[in-house]
Amino acid sequence: MKQFISVKDVADINALVKKALAYKAAPFLDKALGANKRIGLLFLNPSLRTRLSSQVAAQNLGMEPIVFNVDKEGWALEFAEGAIMNGNTVEHIKDAAPVLGNYFDILCIRTFPGLVNKEEDYSEKIINQFIKYAGVPIVSLESATLHPLQSLTDIITILESMSSSASFKNKKPKIVLTWAPHIKSIPQCVANSFSQWVNAWGEAEFVITHPEGYELSAEFTKGATITHHQDDALKDADFVYVKNWSSYEQYGKVLCSDAHWMMNNKKLALTNNAKLMHCLPVRRNVELSDEILDGPNSIVTKEASNRVWAAQAVLSEILKSK
Ligand code: CP
Repeated sequence: MKQFISVKDVADINALVKKALAYKAAPFLDKALGANKRIGLLFLNPSLRTRLSSQVAAQNLGMEPIVFNVDKEGWALEFAEGAIMNGNTVEHIKDAAPVLGNYFDILCIRTFPGLVNKEEDYSEKIINQFIKYAGVPIVSLESATLHPLQSLTDIITILESMSSSASFKNKKPKIVLTWAPHIKSIPQCVANSFSQWVNAWGEAEFVITHPEGYELSAEFTKGATITHHQDDALKDADFVYVKNWSSYEQYGKVLCSDAHWMMNNKKLALTNNAKLMHCLPVRRNVELSDEILDGPNSIVTKEASNRVWAAQAVLSEILKSK
Protein backbone atom coordinates (compact mmCIF):
# COMPACT_ATOMS: atom_id res chain seq x y z
CA MET A 1 0.00 0.00 0.00
CA LYS A 2 1.51 3.32 -1.11
CA GLN A 3 -0.93 5.66 0.68
CA PHE A 4 -4.25 5.51 2.55
CA ILE A 5 -6.66 8.19 1.41
CA SER A 6 -9.74 6.17 0.50
CA VAL A 7 -11.00 2.63 -0.04
CA LYS A 8 -9.44 2.83 -3.52
CA ASP A 9 -6.03 2.34 -1.87
CA VAL A 10 -7.09 -1.08 -0.54
CA ALA A 11 -6.65 -4.17 -2.73
CA ASP A 12 -8.65 -6.55 -0.50
CA ILE A 13 -10.89 -5.22 2.30
CA ASN A 14 -11.48 -8.64 3.90
CA ALA A 15 -7.73 -9.34 4.00
CA LEU A 16 -7.09 -5.97 5.66
CA VAL A 17 -9.82 -6.69 8.24
CA LYS A 18 -8.26 -10.10 8.92
CA LYS A 19 -4.90 -8.43 9.47
CA ALA A 20 -6.42 -5.90 11.87
CA LEU A 21 -8.08 -8.66 13.89
CA ALA A 22 -4.78 -10.56 14.00
CA TYR A 23 -3.21 -7.45 15.58
CA LYS A 24 -6.10 -7.27 18.02
CA ALA A 25 -5.26 -10.83 19.12
CA ALA A 26 -1.50 -10.14 19.19
CA PRO A 27 -0.71 -6.38 19.28
CA PHE A 28 3.09 -6.79 19.20
CA LEU A 29 3.18 -9.40 16.42
CA ASP A 30 5.17 -7.02 14.17
CA LYS A 31 7.02 -4.96 16.78
CA ALA A 32 10.21 -5.06 14.69
CA LEU A 33 8.55 -3.84 11.47
CA GLY A 34 8.69 -0.15 12.33
CA ALA A 35 12.04 -0.10 14.14
CA ASN A 36 13.99 3.10 13.40
CA LYS A 37 10.99 4.55 11.51
CA ARG A 38 9.27 7.79 12.46
CA ILE A 39 5.66 8.76 11.80
CA GLY A 40 4.36 12.34 11.81
CA LEU A 41 0.75 12.89 12.91
CA LEU A 42 -0.34 16.35 11.75
CA PHE A 43 -3.58 17.77 13.08
CA LEU A 44 -5.16 20.84 11.52
CA ASN A 45 -8.30 20.06 13.59
CA PRO A 46 -9.18 18.50 16.99
CA SER A 47 -9.21 14.74 17.68
CA LEU A 48 -9.35 12.22 20.52
CA ARG A 49 -9.66 8.73 18.97
CA THR A 50 -7.76 9.25 15.73
CA ARG A 51 -4.85 10.95 17.42
CA LEU A 52 -4.40 8.44 20.24
CA SER A 53 -5.25 5.23 18.35
CA SER A 54 -2.76 6.15 15.62
CA GLN A 55 -0.02 6.73 18.19
CA VAL A 56 -0.76 3.41 19.93
CA ALA A 57 -0.84 1.60 16.57
CA ALA A 58 2.50 3.11 15.49
CA GLN A 59 4.13 2.21 18.81
CA ASN A 60 2.78 -1.36 18.59
CA LEU A 61 4.72 -1.60 15.31
CA GLY A 62 7.87 -0.20 16.92
CA MET A 63 7.62 3.23 15.26
CA GLU A 64 8.26 6.57 16.91
CA PRO A 65 5.16 8.78 16.56
CA ILE A 66 5.40 12.57 16.79
CA VAL A 67 2.19 14.61 17.00
CA PHE A 68 2.11 18.17 15.66
CA ASN A 69 -1.01 20.29 16.24
CA VAL A 70 -0.50 22.44 13.16
CA ASP A 71 -3.61 24.52 13.89
CA LYS A 72 -2.31 25.63 17.30
CA GLU A 73 1.48 25.35 17.11
CA GLY A 74 2.45 25.64 13.45
CA TRP A 75 2.79 28.52 11.01
CA ALA A 76 -0.39 29.37 9.12
CA LEU A 77 -0.08 27.38 5.87
CA GLU A 78 -0.83 28.69 2.37
CA PHE A 79 -2.23 26.22 -0.20
CA ALA A 80 -3.06 28.48 -3.15
CA GLU A 81 -0.86 28.15 -6.24
CA GLY A 82 0.83 31.45 -7.09
CA ALA A 83 -0.35 33.14 -3.89
CA ILE A 84 1.11 36.55 -3.07
CA MET A 85 1.67 35.87 0.61
CA ASN A 86 1.15 39.34 2.01
CA GLY A 87 -1.77 38.27 4.26
CA ASN A 88 -2.10 35.96 7.26
CA THR A 89 -0.46 32.82 5.85
CA VAL A 90 3.23 32.45 6.65
CA GLU A 91 4.47 29.28 4.95
CA HIS A 92 3.50 27.65 1.65
CA ILE A 93 2.71 23.93 1.57
CA LYS A 94 5.31 23.64 -1.24
CA ASP A 95 7.98 24.60 1.29
CA ALA A 96 6.61 22.89 4.42
CA ALA A 97 5.64 19.46 3.00
CA PRO A 98 9.09 18.47 1.62
CA VAL A 99 10.65 19.37 4.99
CA LEU A 100 8.12 17.16 6.80
CA GLY A 101 8.80 14.43 4.25
CA ASN A 102 12.46 14.54 5.23
CA TYR A 103 11.68 14.24 8.95
CA PHE A 104 9.21 11.34 8.68
CA ASP A 105 8.88 7.95 6.96
CA ILE A 106 5.07 8.22 6.92
CA LEU A 107 3.02 11.42 7.22
CA CYS A 108 -0.56 11.38 8.51
CA ILE A 109 -2.86 14.39 8.19
CA ARG A 110 -6.22 15.48 9.56
CA THR A 111 -7.75 18.35 7.62
CA PHE A 112 -11.48 19.10 7.84
CA PRO A 113 -13.46 20.85 5.08
CA GLY A 114 -14.33 24.54 5.30
CA LEU A 115 -17.97 23.67 4.34
CA VAL A 116 -18.19 26.94 2.38
CA ASN A 117 -16.74 26.09 -1.05
CA LYS A 118 -17.93 22.65 -2.20
CA GLU A 119 -15.66 22.48 -5.25
CA GLU A 120 -12.60 23.31 -3.18
CA ASP A 121 -13.45 20.80 -0.42
CA TYR A 122 -14.37 18.00 -2.86
CA SER A 123 -11.14 18.55 -4.80
CA GLU A 124 -9.32 17.51 -1.60
CA LYS A 125 -6.98 20.43 -2.21
CA ILE A 126 -5.10 20.18 1.08
CA ILE A 127 -4.38 16.44 1.39
CA ASN A 128 -3.56 16.28 -2.34
CA GLN A 129 -0.90 18.95 -1.89
CA PHE A 130 0.68 16.94 0.94
CA ILE A 131 0.69 13.94 -1.43
CA LYS A 132 2.22 16.06 -4.20
CA TYR A 133 4.97 17.73 -2.17
CA ALA A 134 5.86 15.49 0.83
CA GLY A 135 7.52 12.63 -1.06
CA VAL A 136 6.54 10.01 1.59
CA PRO A 137 3.36 7.89 2.01
CA ILE A 138 0.39 9.95 3.22
CA VAL A 139 -2.33 8.57 5.50
CA SER A 140 -5.63 10.41 5.91
CA LEU A 141 -6.68 10.97 9.50
CA GLU A 142 -9.91 12.44 8.03
CA SER A 143 -9.84 14.75 5.05
CA ALA A 144 -12.33 17.18 3.53
CA THR A 145 -14.61 14.43 2.20
CA LEU A 146 -13.55 11.04 3.66
CA HIS A 147 -12.53 9.31 6.91
CA PRO A 148 -11.07 5.99 5.74
CA LEU A 149 -9.53 4.84 9.05
CA GLN A 150 -12.96 5.24 10.65
CA SER A 151 -14.65 3.30 7.84
CA LEU A 152 -12.14 0.45 7.96
CA THR A 153 -12.77 0.31 11.72
CA ASP A 154 -16.51 0.18 11.06
CA ILE A 155 -16.20 -2.79 8.69
CA ILE A 156 -13.90 -4.53 11.20
CA THR A 157 -16.46 -3.97 13.95
CA ILE A 158 -19.35 -5.25 11.81
CA LEU A 159 -17.44 -8.37 10.74
CA GLU A 160 -16.27 -9.03 14.30
CA SER A 161 -19.84 -8.73 15.54
CA MET A 162 -21.12 -10.99 12.74
CA SER A 163 -18.54 -13.67 13.56
CA SER A 164 -20.02 -14.10 17.03
CA SER A 165 -23.56 -14.71 15.67
CA ALA A 166 -24.77 -17.82 13.85
CA SER A 167 -27.51 -15.84 12.08
CA PHE A 168 -25.15 -14.51 9.37
CA LYS A 169 -24.01 -17.95 8.14
CA ASN A 170 -26.38 -17.86 5.16
CA LYS A 171 -27.54 -14.25 5.16
CA LYS A 172 -26.03 -10.88 4.32
CA PRO A 173 -26.39 -8.28 7.10
CA LYS A 174 -28.75 -5.37 6.59
CA ILE A 175 -26.80 -2.19 7.36
CA VAL A 176 -28.63 1.13 7.72
CA LEU A 177 -26.90 4.50 7.74
CA THR A 178 -29.29 6.97 9.32
CA TRP A 179 -28.98 10.75 9.51
CA ALA A 180 -29.42 12.21 13.00
CA PRO A 181 -30.00 15.76 14.20
CA HIS A 182 -27.14 18.01 15.34
CA ILE A 183 -26.82 21.63 16.44
CA LYS A 184 -23.89 22.42 14.13
CA SER A 185 -22.93 22.13 10.48
CA ILE A 186 -21.02 18.83 10.29
CA PRO A 187 -18.92 17.53 7.34
CA GLN A 188 -20.19 14.70 5.13
CA CYS A 189 -16.87 12.81 5.54
CA VAL A 190 -17.93 9.95 7.82
CA ALA A 191 -21.18 9.30 5.93
CA ASN A 192 -19.45 9.54 2.52
CA SER A 193 -16.68 7.24 3.63
CA PHE A 194 -18.93 4.68 5.34
CA SER A 195 -21.05 4.52 2.17
CA GLN A 196 -17.98 4.17 -0.03
CA TRP A 197 -16.57 1.32 2.09
CA VAL A 198 -19.82 -0.62 2.55
CA ASN A 199 -20.45 -0.41 -1.21
CA ALA A 200 -16.90 -1.49 -2.04
CA TRP A 201 -17.09 -4.34 0.49
CA GLY A 202 -20.29 -5.48 -1.21
CA GLU A 203 -21.34 -8.09 1.34
CA ALA A 204 -24.37 -6.32 2.83
CA GLU A 205 -27.82 -5.02 2.04
CA PHE A 206 -27.15 -1.30 2.41
CA VAL A 207 -29.82 1.33 3.07
CA ILE A 208 -29.28 5.07 3.66
CA THR A 209 -32.01 7.18 5.23
CA HIS A 210 -32.11 10.94 5.74
CA PRO A 211 -34.50 13.91 5.48
CA GLU A 212 -35.05 15.54 2.08
CA GLY A 213 -32.14 17.74 1.05
CA TYR A 214 -29.47 15.60 2.72
CA GLU A 215 -28.59 13.45 -0.32
CA LEU A 216 -24.88 12.63 -0.27
CA SER A 217 -22.76 12.68 -3.41
CA ALA A 218 -23.78 9.75 -5.64
CA GLU A 219 -20.06 9.11 -6.12
CA PHE A 220 -20.12 7.44 -2.69
CA THR A 221 -23.70 6.17 -2.32
CA LYS A 222 -24.23 4.52 -5.74
CA GLY A 223 -25.49 0.99 -5.10
CA ALA A 224 -27.27 1.77 -1.81
CA THR A 225 -31.03 2.03 -1.37
CA ILE A 226 -31.88 5.61 -0.34
CA THR A 227 -35.10 6.57 1.43
CA HIS A 228 -36.51 9.55 3.36
CA HIS A 229 -38.59 7.16 5.50
CA GLN A 230 -36.47 6.23 8.50
CA ASP A 231 -38.96 3.72 9.97
CA ASP A 232 -39.07 1.76 6.67
CA ALA A 233 -35.28 1.77 6.47
CA LEU A 234 -34.86 0.47 10.02
CA LYS A 235 -37.13 -2.54 9.50
CA ASP A 236 -35.13 -5.75 10.12
CA ALA A 237 -31.80 -3.87 10.24
CA ASP A 238 -28.88 -5.79 11.77
CA PHE A 239 -26.59 -2.75 12.14
CA VAL A 240 -27.65 0.88 12.44
CA TYR A 241 -24.97 3.51 11.90
CA VAL A 242 -26.06 6.87 13.25
CA LYS A 243 -24.45 10.06 11.97
CA ASN A 244 -25.26 13.67 11.29
CA TRP A 245 -24.06 15.47 8.20
CA SER A 246 -24.81 18.86 6.67
CA SER A 247 -26.38 19.24 3.24
CA TYR A 248 -24.24 18.40 0.21
CA GLU A 249 -26.58 20.10 -2.28
CA GLN A 250 -27.08 23.30 -0.26
CA TYR A 251 -23.49 22.95 0.76
CA GLY A 252 -22.80 23.00 4.50
CA LYS A 253 -26.33 24.11 5.39
CA VAL A 254 -28.38 22.68 8.29
CA LEU A 255 -31.83 22.11 6.73
CA CYS A 256 -33.50 19.97 9.40
CA SER A 257 -33.47 19.85 13.18
CA ASP A 258 -36.43 17.47 13.59
CA ALA A 259 -35.79 15.58 16.86
CA HIS A 260 -37.85 12.65 15.54
CA TRP A 261 -34.77 11.58 13.57
CA MET A 262 -32.91 10.83 16.82
CA MET A 263 -32.40 7.08 17.31
CA ASN A 264 -34.06 5.71 20.47
CA ASN A 265 -35.37 2.40 21.85
CA LYS A 266 -38.77 2.80 20.12
CA LYS A 267 -36.99 2.90 16.76
CA LEU A 268 -34.66 0.09 17.82
CA ALA A 269 -37.74 -2.11 18.23
CA LEU A 270 -38.28 -1.88 14.44
CA THR A 271 -34.92 -3.53 13.78
CA ASN A 272 -33.64 -7.09 14.02
CA ASN A 273 -32.25 -6.28 17.50
CA ALA A 274 -29.66 -4.19 15.64
CA LYS A 275 -26.25 -3.22 16.92
CA LEU A 276 -25.92 0.57 17.13
CA MET A 277 -22.83 2.29 15.82
CA HIS A 278 -21.50 5.86 15.86
CA CYS A 279 -17.97 7.11 15.20
CA LEU A 280 -17.94 9.40 18.28
CA PRO A 281 -17.86 12.07 19.56
CA VAL A 282 -21.65 11.96 19.92
CA ARG A 283 -24.09 14.60 21.15
CA ARG A 284 -26.13 12.61 23.68
CA ASN A 285 -29.89 13.01 23.48
CA VAL A 286 -29.51 15.00 20.26
CA GLU A 287 -28.06 12.38 17.86
CA LEU A 288 -28.61 9.30 20.03
CA SER A 289 -30.54 8.79 23.28
CA ASP A 290 -28.87 7.85 26.57
CA GLU A 291 -30.98 4.69 26.60
CA ILE A 292 -29.39 3.54 23.34
CA LEU A 293 -25.82 4.58 24.17
CA ASP A 294 -25.97 3.03 27.65
CA GLY A 295 -27.96 -0.01 26.50
CA PRO A 296 -26.92 -3.50 25.39
CA ASN A 297 -27.20 -2.84 21.64
CA SER A 298 -24.60 -0.07 21.52
CA ILE A 299 -21.19 -1.15 20.21
CA VAL A 300 -19.72 2.36 20.04
CA THR A 301 -16.97 1.67 22.60
CA LYS A 302 -15.87 -1.52 20.85
CA GLU A 303 -15.96 0.42 17.57
CA ALA A 304 -13.73 3.19 18.95
CA SER A 305 -11.35 0.59 20.48
CA ASN A 306 -10.99 -1.03 17.08
CA ARG A 307 -9.50 2.20 15.71
CA VAL A 308 -6.09 0.97 16.97
CA TRP A 309 -6.23 -2.24 14.93
CA ALA A 310 -7.42 -0.49 11.77
CA ALA A 311 -4.55 2.00 11.99
CA GLN A 312 -2.06 -0.77 12.80
CA ALA A 313 -3.12 -2.84 9.77
CA VAL A 314 -2.80 0.17 7.45
CA LEU A 315 0.58 1.31 8.79
CA SER A 316 1.85 -2.26 8.59
CA GLU A 317 0.82 -2.53 4.91
CA ILE A 318 2.58 0.76 4.12
CA LEU A 319 5.74 -0.22 6.01
CA LYS A 320 5.87 -3.55 4.18
CA SER A 321 5.67 -1.87 0.77
CA LYS A 322 8.30 0.81 1.52
N1 CP B 1 -14.17 9.22 15.25
C1 CP B 1 -13.14 10.09 15.28
O1 CP B 1 -12.46 10.34 14.27
O2 CP B 1 -12.89 10.60 16.52
P1 CP B 1 -11.91 11.83 16.79
O3 CP B 1 -12.45 13.01 16.03
O4 CP B 1 -11.94 12.03 18.28
O5 CP B 1 -10.54 11.47 16.30
